[in-house]
Amino acid sequence: MKTQIENLRRELEQHNYNYYVLSQPTISDFEFDDKLKQLQGLEAAHPEFFDPNSPTQRVGSDIVSGFEQVAHVYPMLSLGNTYSEGEVQDFYERTRKGLNEEFELVCELKYDGTSISLTYEKGLLVRAVTRGDGEKGDDVTANVKTIRSIPLRLQGNFPDKFEIRGEILMPWAVFDELNREREAQEEQLFANPRNAASGTLKLQNSTVVASRKLDGYFYYLLGENLPSDLHSENLAAARSWGFKISDATKVCQSLEEVSAFINYWDLERKNLPVATDGIVIKVNSLSQQKNLGFTAKSPRWAIAYKFQAEKAVTRLNSVSYQVGRTGAITPVANLDPVQLSGTVVKRASLHNADIIESLDLYIGDMVFVEKGGEIIPKITAVDKDARFLIGDKVKFLKVCPECGAALVRFDGEAAHYCPNENTCPPQIKGKMEHFVSRKAMNIDGLGSETINLLYQNGLLQNIADIYSLKIPDLVRLERLGTKSAYNIQAGAEKSKEVPFERVVFALGIRFVGETIAKKLSYAFKNIEALECATLEDLVAVDEIGERIAQSVVQYFSDSLNVETVSRLKSAGLQMSLSEEKLLSHGDALIGLSVVISGTFAKHSRDEYKAMIEMNGGKNVGSVSAKTSFILAGENMGPEKLKKAENLGVKIIDEDTFLSMISETKSEE
Ligand code: IVH
Repeated sequence: MKTQIENLRRELEQHNYNYYVLSQPTISDFEFDDKLKQLQGLEAAHPEFFDPNSPTQRVGSDIVSGFEQVAHVYPMLSLGNTYSEGEVQDFYERTRKGLNEEFELVCELKYDGTSISLTYEKGLLVRAVTRGDGEKGDDVTANVKTIRSIPLRLQGNFPDKFEIRGEILMPWAVFDELNREREAQEEQLFANPRNAASGTLKLQNSTVVASRKLDGYFYYLLGENLPSDLHSENLAAARSWGFKISDATKVCQSLEEVSAFINYWDLERKNLPVATDGIVIKVNSLSQQKNLGFTAKSPRWAIAYKFQAEKAVTRLNSVSYQVGRTGAITPVANLDPVQLSGTVVKRASLHNADIIESLDLYIGDMVFVEKGGEIIPKITAVDKDARFLIGDKVKFLKVCPECGAALVRFDGEAAHYCPNENTCPPQIKGKMEHFVSRKAMNIDGLGSETINLLYQNGLLQNIADIYSLKIPDLVRLERLGTKSAYNIQAGAEKSKEVPFERVVFALGIRFVGETIAKKLSYAFKNIEALECATLEDLVAVDEIGERIAQSVVQYFSDSLNVETVSRLKSAGLQMSLSEEKLLSHGDALIGLSVVISGTFAKHSRDEYKAMIEMNGGKNVGSVSAKTSFILAGENMGPEKLKKAENLGVKIIDEDTFLSMISETKSEE
């Protein structure tokens, strides 16, 4: 039986490889699924032959577990970036002088995903770790195992132990479909495939990861017994072991060849199924790489040439204006659909009145659109030569497109606002959407369409109405089923446990984001104190400036807001800091900046981060002369350790840290 199971596993591995790496399947999906089911059946009947690397393990598991932090054996560094071929030439000259002998370069595509380091022992995938801070990352093995193009078991002649690094990517087609689904579900969209890939890899539930169809391209081998001294040959060997290695890899003998590679792929990359953002140029020989060595941040033997952001030209058909929950007006350009960086663009942000003015836009203009990091591209220029039948000049609105109120513009701010905070429909609905959102009250069942429906029918006029919704009123609405009605009520009920700091955030006070809401909650401890706080009281709180203070005072000077808060209080929402948080909140670290490094036994890094903040300290990422101390666990990064020693920064272990913060607590 064992042989039968093993044979079936080998057979399925080969089909996986043919399909996901070579893109040349030799059997139908149906046959594949059938064989997989057969294997699942056999494995279930014979648990004694369990294998964590079996093809059946790729479906994921819904066991939720936090990620363990793992120190990288070799730190994961980044590359120096250049945007001009001149700088590539400088790199070439530096390398030539540094080596003072013949050398070859390898050009590769720079894949725009999230980096991963895989460790293989005896041909089996044993660990997959994210880049993290470069010194240690999250162990995401369970998630990576669901990626079909990543071999769980290697073929051929491979070293006993090695690491391979590459990029996890979400193909454009998968990304578009995922965002379409998210839009339908009223979930927040991913800005780009990179964020989607890294977000997916960090999901706790690997069954969901499995459904997201990620892919992996590999470009860097590390280990003691690599097959060759040439990077290009190592990549070719890795390809033969089963890894997906890009075909767009070229050994170049001269700068001219590098230049030709750049120019070719600058255009051709648009036809690739995944995102790329540049070219990576590496010295081919590993011994020459060793000679050149590293700077503090990146290797001297490689450089990244980044492509210019992609541009497209299309026609401006109209401009519409959206009113946000704070009343901010966002102008949006409606365009003839055009292909840009793998997606079809129909709309672009015009940001504000100043930008519209400086672009000197007319309806019908041919405009250049560019994608930055955001999902909505921006208009960067107008092709004035292409202007013939001129339409109307685009002028910013004077009145709110929704309620007709005259727009206002605050000193020093770029945006125009509709001042009708409590009566302008999108502002009312926007406030409700914010109130129920995940990071605020997290009320399930109330998406923007449902809010709209309830608003139109007069059931929701104010956030406090959510707590007096009645089932019979809800079910009477045509488009809402009984189940949804009960869902909404249960969600509202559950939200009464949401802690005070999130309630403060949920109120939607302008400029009071999640962090500021936390600061205000810890400083004033309950809603009554916050309500009575004066400008002076507010600016006395660390990081609360004049602008936020004024906004808070203004919020509570509006009688409608006071009434809303009082209704929320009567409904049973948390209006003061919990006992536990009151106790754990001290001032032991006021004015101190603390760096966290290493792995800890008693609390997670996030918990330590929260403790630092709750005690008045600041958590910073890198060690400098200003660092007050380092909270260090096991395996502190060697770079940080060296820097700390050089600068004479104190290093404190977790027990010392815990007693530091508990001492001041008992003094309180
Ligand atoms: S080599 C020592 N090759 O770009 C650095 N990196 O800024 C070894 N990347 O962290 C990296 N494609 O996430 C290398 N062909 C490629 C790459 C590549 C994408 C990413 C990778 C790296 C970052 C460097």
